[in-house]
Amino acid sequence: MAENAEHPAYPVGLRLTGRRVVVIGGGQVAQRRLPALIAAGADITLVSPSATPSVEAMAEAGEITWTRRRYEDGDLAGAWYALIAATDPEANARASAEAERNRVWCVRSDDAEAATAWTPATGRSEGVTVAVLTGHDPRRSAAVRDAIVEGLRDGSIAAPHHRSRTPFVALVGGGPGDPDLITVRGRRLLAEADVVVADRLGPRDLLDELPPHVEVIDAAKIPYGRFMAQEAINNALIEHAKAGKSVVRLKGGDPFVFGRGMEEAQALAEAGIACTVVPGISSSISVPGAAGIPVTHRGVAHEFTVVSGHVAPDDPRSLVDWASLAKLTGTLVILMGVDKIGAIAEALMAHGKAPDTPLALVQEGTTASQRRVDATLATVARRVAEEDVRPPAVIVIGPVVAEGPLKTTA
Ligand SMILES: C[S@@+](CC[C@H](N)C(=O)[O-])C[C@H]1O[C@@H](n2cnc3c(N)ncnc32)[C@H](O)[C@@H]1O
Repeated sequence: MAENAEHPAYPVGLRLTGRRVVVIGGGQVAQRRLPALIAAGADITLVSPSATPSVEAMAEAGEITWTRRRYEDGDLAGAWYALIAATDPEANARASAEAERNRVWCVRSDDAEAATAWTPATGRSEGVTVAVLTGHDPRRSAAVRDAIVEGLRDGSIAAPHHRSRTPFVALVGGGPGDPDLITVRGRRLLAEADVVVADRLGPRDLLDELPPHVEVIDAAKIPYGRFMAQEAINNALIEHAKAGKSVVRLKGGDPFVFGRGMEEAQALAEAGIACTVVPGISSSISVPGAAGIPVTHRGVAHEFTVVSGHVAPDDPRSLVDWASLAKLTGTLVILMGVDKIGAIAEALMAHGKAPDTPLALVQEGTTASQRRVDATLATVARRVAEEDVRPPAVIVIGPVVAEGPLKTTA
């Protein structure tokens, strides 16, 4: 019987693992729907004389069994569910008549009214499946689905777990500064947090969006007394997690690129606290990119090397082999190097790098205050002083600096 406004569809989640599902027609509709049926573990038979290359690939991979011919009466025998989407309306009508006779729930791509089931617009986020039916308006279903999935992903729709909570910390890479450049997962964890321990760098604008009950702790201001600053941060994470709070350690860029993320992860492991690491967009690639500099470019640079410039080349604590770096032909990306760039440029030139090698400093990349200052190895010390370049800045050295439409003159 056809659905009508008085009798809305009855929603249900089919558990299809190992159960026979028949798909009639191997075109675009099958291509779109098959991945979810495969993911559900269904035992799928496709009946169709032809198929799109993607559907063919699913058959080749053994994910579906393909019967290469037109639909014939009896094909739905033993099926629990059928997807009828052949190009021939007459075949579709016969198949759906067979489904009706055999009480096999079936969806039809060409005639929703004649179908016994409708496919909802579906989406998934972190273990929640969203399925939306609006009757006869698939675009509206998709729009509602998108809004809900996005809300779950960015945390604007709360989906708290109601299982007992074990202490937990998320080390979240917040990206270089633009609040849009955090990952979807990072943003959702932030929205679910009770306590956020944040660095100076990273997307600080996101902190303003947090609800008032969230405790935001500035990592730089945690008193360390008899501890090292990093130890005090680790202890703060451990204590809040042990108190049953959802703790997010929000870091600039990626937690594992000069971010001391591993030290925090190890301290949490030692304290027996579960920890998840959410990668972030590192400033080492994104900040040059935001200023129009690609770290690699075909025919120009086949490698890029990311180096910390926080200690000068002649400092005994330095672990960097500047002589070897000077020999590389690709791109050198220096983080934390503004203060020492004069000495670094001297070392690179002393080891043979050409004084006219192009260089750019990109300060506060991806934020409203972003600026780029161009120089060469020979001129950089003067340019930094003249332009009053300050941290945080990413320094890019190599021929890629001379590429691209955003090039400015030194
Ligand atoms: C302690 S490191 C942390 C790097 C971070 N984990 C990452 O992956 O981007 C800090 C350095 O990153 C660079 N940096 C981070 N964010 C930046 C930004 N928005 N603009 C320019 N440089 C940035 C600067 O070189 C800064 O001194």
